Amino acid sequence: MRKNIVAGNWKMNNTLQEGLNLAKDLEAALKGKKVNCEVIIGTPFIHLASIASSIDTKLIGISAQNCADKASGAYTGEVSAAMVASTGAKYVILGHSERRTYYGETNTILKEKVALALANGLTPIFCIGEVLEERNSGKHFDVVETQIREGLFNLPAEDFRKIVLAYEPVWAIGTGVTATSGQAQEMHAFIRKTLAANYGESVADDTSILYGGSANAGNAKELFSNPDVDGGLIGGASLSVDKFMPIVEAF
Ligand code: 13P
Repeated sequence: MRKNIVAGNWKMNNTLQEGLNLAKDLEAALKGKKVNCEVIIGTPFIHLASIASSIDTKLIGISAQNCADKASGAYTGEVSAAMVASTGAKYVILGHSERRTYYGETNTILKEKVALALANGLTPIFCIGEVLEERNSGKHFDVVETQIREGLFNLPAEDFRKIVLAYEPVWAIGTGVTATSGQAQEMHAFIRKTLAANYGESVADDTSILYGGSANAGNAKELFSNPDVDGGLIGGASLSVDKFMPIVEAF
């Protein structure tokens, strides 16, 4: 059975002290509450170890926002999947559109990152999504299908079962323009059909597909009520407990 997940992506926000405080405040807000989804926070690399050792990681899963496409060695400034795993983090966001756009991450590079993440026991949260021109010219399904096929379909089914997908239409990220509930469901159903065609119905049914892009307390309930929307990857609204908790509680 697939899981409902609400994951925060802090992006490049919060000093170490601010991040620790935010994680502890979120832990306090979750403690003793029965929530119907898994809660994850995606923090900058430097926060991972401190946060993982300061909070109950069964209550809040910890995710990196990236990892290197090489295992180890002379790659100055890079952080490997093994290093991420050694902090206590269990997840890694891969292929975010900001990484694809600003840091030139291609599906070929992402394929390496996914393999290394899996080899080190991390669950990739693999992001896909089209830009506005692609949607306006009716190419959005093709774009998303290509990202999934080139980034992930080399995996055998037993490995693909470990992947979480996040559909993040680029035009909705940080813009305040959310995909409508209908647009989200339509794309999520298409993604699940694409997975079923390659791996079969059971793998497709078991894969969690999150929506990301200006999701907030006001629209989360409607988005999550769709049969193929299994949660959210939340940017801006994950930076405060007051904004993030209502999204967690939308399930
Ligand atoms: P916003 O929620 O700020 O639109 O960001 C979404 C996102 O990019 C999450 O990865």
